[in-house]
Amino acid sequence: MSDYQDFIEEVLISEESLHARIAEIGREITRDYAGKDLLLICILRGGVMFLTDLMRKITIPHAIEFMAVSSYGVGGRESTGQVRITLDLNTDIRDRHVLLVEDIIDSGFTIKSVLELLSVRKPGSLKVCTLLDKTERREVEVPIEYCGFCIPNKFVFGYGLDIDDYYRNLPFIGAVNLDKYLATQTRKQLDTENDA
Ligand code: IMP
Ligand code: MG
Repeated sequence: MSDYQDFIEEVLISEESLHARIAEIGREITRDYAGKDLLLICILRGGVMFLTDLMRKITIPHAIEFMAVSSYGVGGRESTGQVRITLDLNTDIRDRHVLLVEDIIDSGFTIKSVLELLSVRKPGSLKVCTLLDKTERREVEVPIEYCGFCIPNKFVFGYGLDIDDYYRNLPFIGAVNLDKYLATQTRKQLDTENDA
């Protein structure tokens, strides 16, 4: 696997900026949900780092849950509009105050489908908290209650977000230089062929 240094274009959001903004969102959520039965639902896998940092900044009692949907296949960088639930909740959300925790909203198809699917289960409220918003790419309108950062139309990775399933561990958000990334993939492919 190539080092991210081989294809990063720039660090878009530093670790410090992420933590500062997440602390602010945590304070807002703490204030807005005081006295309510708050349930954070993390959409796997991209939202996982955001969830674990965010929940430490929310000082009211709350529960967490996970669900997984698939919208991007390996190698694909476009949402298809076809969203499939691959892991459902283990809990009843009726009358509970649900806040969906997402890594990024791009076309909006994923979060829109999740909202439709969960709203029929009659939660007390259902809102969206996303770390990143690529507004320019939006194809369907989605209501966003909390947003960390609006970002330009670039493919990003790190802090939970992947490129072909890797690099989620990086503590910052980086923008990829796709030409350089594809070159590293071609090199890898040639190496495998030479080894065979
Ligand atoms: P949407 O359905 O187009 O809004 O896509 C949402 C999902 O696509 C996110 O939850 C991410 O998993 C993935 N995604 C969108 N843009 C990026 C990106 O720039 N980097 C990594 N994953 C992305
Ligand atoms: Mg995601």
